[in-house]
Amino acid sequence: MINKETLSQTDFLYNYVVSGSVLGYLEIRIVDNVIDIINIFVNEENRNQKIATSLMNHMFENEDYNKIMLEVNENNIIALNLYKKLGFKEISIRNKYYKEDAAIIMQKED
Ligand SMILES: CC(C)(COP(=O)(O)OP(=O)(O)OC[C@H]1O[C@@H](n2cnc3c(N)ncnc32)[C@H](O)[C@@H]1OP(=O)(O)O)[C@@H](O)C(=O)NCCC(=O)NCCS
Repeated sequence: MINKETLSQTDFLYNYVVSGSVLGYLEIRIVDNVIDIINIFVNEENRNQKIATSLMNHMFENEDYNKIMLEVNENNIIALNLYKKLGFKEISIRNKYYKEDAAIIMQKED
């Protein structure tokens, strides 16, 4: 089951819950019809079961948006693969955003 929690006027959390335990979550910020992905996380022992994919697809279906933006470490290949698979495109790079590593800025339009 996926539930939505309100954190503030702009910030929301989608929780992926099985038998009362949160196995993963997706935190977003919505300002002026633009969604920012703040974080997505799945417990290590529950990875590779499409939980992150389910959380993102659930958000796509339940939110009104013009575009979705995110930043990901250039070396986080797993997350990069996930986002590309979900239709995000690389739009720019910010060097040394994460100490020595660059951030890839990605965007998906509705
Ligand atoms: C990134 C993360 C959320 C993915 O969660 P997940 O539930 O395991 O992901 P899914 O099972 O939905 O996988 C979706 C896609 O991600 C990619 N992926 C997942 N695991 C992967 C791996 N070990 N190696 C390469 N690509 C991988 C694949 O493209 C996969 O699709 P496929 O199985 O059809 O090939 C999880 O690894 C995580 O919590 N990582 C730590 C936190 C983090 O880095 N968050 C992103 C911050 S920007």
